[in-house]
Amino acid sequence: MKVLLLGGGGREHALGWKLSQSDRLSQLISAPGNPGLGQLGETLPSVDPTDVAAVTRLAVERGVDLVVVGPEAPLAAGVVDSITAAGVPVWGPSQRAAALETSKAFAKQVMDEAGVPTACWQTFDQVDPALAYLRAQQPPYVIKANGLAAGKGVLVTTDQAKAEAWVSRCLGGGFGERRIVIEEFLRGPELSVFALCSGDEAVALEPARDFKRLMDGDKGPNTGGMGSYSPVTGLPGGIAAGVLADVIKPVLKTMMNDERPYNGFLYVGLVLTESGPVVLEFNCRLGDPETQVLMPRLASDLIDLIEASLGGRVAAPEWNDLACLNVVLAAPGYPEASIAGVRIRIGDLPDRSLVFHAGTGEDHNGIFARGGRVLNVVGTGSGLAEARANAYAAVKAIEFPGALFRRDI
Ligand code: AMP
Ligand code: GLY
Repeated sequence: MKVLLLGGGGREHALGWKLSQSDRLSQLISAPGNPGLGQLGETLPSVDPTDVAAVTRLAVERGVDLVVVGPEAPLAAGVVDSITAAGVPVWGPSQRAAALETSKAFAKQVMDEAGVPTACWQTFDQVDPALAYLRAQQPPYVIKANGLAAGKGVLVTTDQAKAEAWVSRCLGGGFGERRIVIEEFLRGPELSVFALCSGDEAVALEPARDFKRLMDGDKGPNTGGMGSYSPVTGLPGGIAAGVLADVIKPVLKTMMNDERPYNGFLYVGLVLTESGPVVLEFNCRLGDPETQVLMPRLASDLIDLIEASLGGRVAAPEWNDLACLNVVLAAPGYPEASIAGVRIRIGDLPDRSLVFHAGTGEDHNGIFARGGRVLNVVGTGSGLAEARANAYAAVKAIEFPGALFRRDI
C-alpha cells in the first residue's frame, strides 16, 4: 500500500514511523515531511500541505492508496473533501467537521447541544459588550480567539488590564477572524484523550499528558508542547471509557445530526476538576507531542486501524506494555523568536530511545535546526522512571548548542 502522509512535524514523524512498521506499507511519501521522515521514504519539501489542489493532484498522480493527514491546517483548508472527491481514501475529518477545532464558538455550541460538560462561555464580535462581560467575571480570565491561531490565541490571566488588551487585540483582527470566546477558568490537572472516530462510532486511544509551558515547574510562556508521557498514572479508573461515553459519542451524534459526520482522529483536551472531567477544547487531529509517546505503545497495525475506520468499523487498538516519555528540544529563542541554523549532531543513542524530527533541516553538512520545536527525544521502558532515564540519556547524546528543554518531564 502506498501512503501519502501530510505534514512535517514530530507528530508526523511518529505517525510515519508507525506506518512504516506495517507489512502492508509498500511506500511512504511525506509532504512536506522532514529529514526524519526522509529516512523512511520519499519527502516532498516544496509541497504546501494546505494547497488543496496541489495535494489532490499529488495523491491522484502518484496513485496513492491512502492519504493520512497529520496537522489541522490542511484539514481546515479542505484537503479531505477534495481528495475524497477525487476518489482517493483519506483519513481525517472534512472541512465542515473540522470546525470542532477551527471555531471555538462552534465547538462550544456542539458541546452545549450534546450535553457535554464545558466551561461557561459567551462569544463576542464587538469590544464594548465583551469588556462589559469580562468586567463582570472573577479572575483568572480566559479569552480565546475563535479561529485557528497555532496555539497562540488563548490568554489566561489574573490581570484585568492584560485581559482587556487581549480582547481588543483579538477583536481588532490580531488573529484573523474578529470573534472571541470568553469562558470560565477551570481548575485541575489537564489530560488529553484521543479517539478514532467514524461517524457515530468511536474507540478511545490511551491517554497522554503534555507539558505546555516552556520552563521547569510549569513556568514561562505557553508553547506547542515541551514534552509528554504515556501511560498517565494516578488517573481516576476508566477515565478514557467515561470520556468516550459522556463526551465523544454524544458529540459525534450531534455532528451527524448537523450533517457533519466526523471521521478521523479526535483530540479532547480536558481539565480534571473536582466535579469530574470538563472539556477545554477539541482538536481534529492527534496531539503533538502526545503522538510521539502513543505510537511506540501501539501494538496494532496503524494501517489496519485506519482502514477499518474508513470502512465504518472502528476497532479497539491493542497496546504493548511500554511506558514512553518525550523530551522536546526547541531552538534557542523559542517560542518568541527562534534562532535557526544551529548545527545538530545526533550521537550514539541508548537502546531504548527514539528521536522524532520536527523543525530540522538537512544539507550536505548534516542536520541543523530550522526553528521552533526541533527534536522529540523519546525514552521507552517498562515504567515511566525507566522511560525518563532513557529519554534524558538520549538527550545527552545529542549535540545541539543552546537547545531549550525541560528537565522535569
Ligand atoms: P486551548 O487552546 O483552548 O486548549 O487553550 C490552551 C491552554 O490554555 C490550555 O491547554 C489550558 O492550559 C489553558 N486554558 C484554556 N482554557 C482554559 C480554561 N477555561 N480554564 C483554565 N485554563 C484554560
Ligand atoms: N499537544 C497540544 C496539541 O497538539 O494541540
